[in-house]
Amino acid sequence: MVKAVVLGAAGGIGQPLSLLLKHNPLVTSLGLYDIVNTPGVAADLSHISTPAKVVGYLPADDGLAKVLTGADVVVIPAGVPRKPGMTRDDLFKINAGIVRDLATGIAKNAPKAFVLVISNPVNSTVPIVAEVFKQHGVFDPKRLFGVTTLDVVRASTFVAEVLGDLSKAPSITVPVVGGHSGVTIVPLLSQSSAALPADFTQDARVTLTTRIQYGGDEVVKAKDGAGSATLSMAYAGAEFAEKIIRALRGETGIVAPSFVHLESDPASGAALKKEIGKDLEYFSAPVELGPQGVASIKPLGALTPYEKTLVDAALPELQTNIDKGVSFISASK
Ligand code: NAD
Ligand code: LMR
Repeated sequence: MVKAVVLGAAGGIGQPLSLLLKHNPLVTSLGLYDIVNTPGVAADLSHISTPAKVVGYLPADDGLAKVLTGADVVVIPAGVPRKPGMTRDDLFKINAGIVRDLATGIAKNAPKAFVLVISNPVNSTVPIVAEVFKQHGVFDPKRLFGVTTLDVVRASTFVAEVLGDLSKAPSITVPVVGGHSGVTIVPLLSQSSAALPADFTQDARVTLTTRIQYGGDEVVKAKDGAGSATLSMAYAGAEFAEKIIRALRGETGIVAPSFVHLESDPASGAALKKEIGKDLEYFSAPVELGPQGVASIKPLGALTPYEKTLVDAALPELQTNIDKGVSFISASK
């Protein structure tokens, strides 16, 4: 029995993500929460002939507490998306408060749930959730994840495009590490499961790396004011949620990149800090998942000199983003 909850379920990501979770036979209960429209979204999804029982809640009548009760996995895509010309950090002003309030609800009503944060800026919203949980004395770093799967999905797709064969995309894996914004997104193309062409130049490598780093901007620009990635994010979020659900049901050997607290597994977290040469509190790295959440954080492994410069370039911005999230909560104490 697995109860999944989506906070922000009526939005551009929330609706297709809820559809994909309803379609997942491992989900037996699906709770939807938003400040608008969840009764309609829930009624619609509830007619689909899959096992999950779907219920929708609004803030009235303690809806947040009700939807979270009994939750095993909580996915948060609530918040405003970018428009052209904005950075993810520009969303902090509005989304930080939204995520803080939802995290407070989770801390009170589902403190043991696995929390998957999609709301941007992920590099700051994940620390916000952690700090709220600490204030409530319920923080378990093993159970908190920033969802960076869309970067991984994009990397697979764009490498398959370079190889001229999109049918390969589902089987191509490329670790993407660091964080989830611009220079903090670091694809390790040298570790792609599918080799790039022998004549692939360094210029072409830089172009492909930049495309993965700024894939979000490509969608924001194409949507021309109507928001950012929603459908590809729903796909990525459902894929990551499924991995979490399979791990909590006892399946072993599942590894996925995610933005996690480096104390979630102290030994491997310390080794990673040593590898990147900085005492960061959070970093996105391939994580081995287990029934308690983070089982271990995998090393980045051998990097090319170019990849090393990318990691080094990511560190200052990551530190700034993390500090901003932490102090948003500590300053309001
Ligand atoms: P959207 O505006 O379409 O949907 C957001 C939903 O959140 C709306 O339905 C809104 O009513 C709801 N909401 C607002 N305040 C709420 C609250 N207090 N409680 C519950 N629900 C609330 O936006 P979207 O396109 O779905 O994007 C949502 C967020 O996801 C944005 O911050 C966006 O930047 C982020 N995002 C992250 C990734 C990633 O890779 N992590 C990818 C794409 C988008
Ligand atoms: C993405 O990577 O598509 C998301 O983070 C949304 C955005 O603002 O680009």
